[in-house]
Amino acid sequence: MNSDSDLQIAGDILEVPHLLQAPREHPATVAEFAGLARSVAADRSAWEHLVRYDATARWYHRLRTGPGYEVWLLSWVPGQGSGRHDHGPSSGVWTVLEGALTERTERGTRALVPGTQRVFAPGYVHEVVNDTLEPAVSLHVYYPGLTEMPMHSPECSAAAARDSDAGSGAVPAR
Ligand SMILES: [Fe+2]
Repeated sequence: MNSDSDLQIAGDILEVPHLLQAPREHPATVAEFAGLARSVAADRSAWEHLVRYDATARWYHRLRTGPGYEVWLLSWVPGQGSGRHDHGPSSGVWTVLEGALTERTERGTRALVPGTQRVFAPGYVHEVVNDTLEPAVSLHVYYPGLTEMPMHSPECSAAAARDSDAGSGAVPAR
């Protein structure tokens, strides 16, 4: 057998379970947090019946917690937005479960639909808005759990100025 590695496993690895890494109960890496978001998104029975829409205030629900992390469910009626914010010391993964959302950052505007995932590090600044005519639902995983969400003044870009009416900076942004 030609191989660059001289490591070979003789026999059936499944017969030596003590050599296998035990499956982790909770995510601990970026990939595992992304996997958690993906698996929750795929399991509609875990979140669909919980979703509410509120035209007067942004609706959000803590779906799950684990060691050092939180999973939040958010809904967005047409026109609702987060305002421009960061997430304090938290990193995060978020994805759209239903509908479509627009994310604006200093680097541009991005449309997110179900299946799209975004990963961010502490200090990441963005604004999320539902600028479609249909309600949207999103899932957000924060590590560590979200303890602060400083709001930022709107960007002095033409796009931000054009869309500033869509934001609602006084409500929880996520
Ligand atoms: Fe956010």
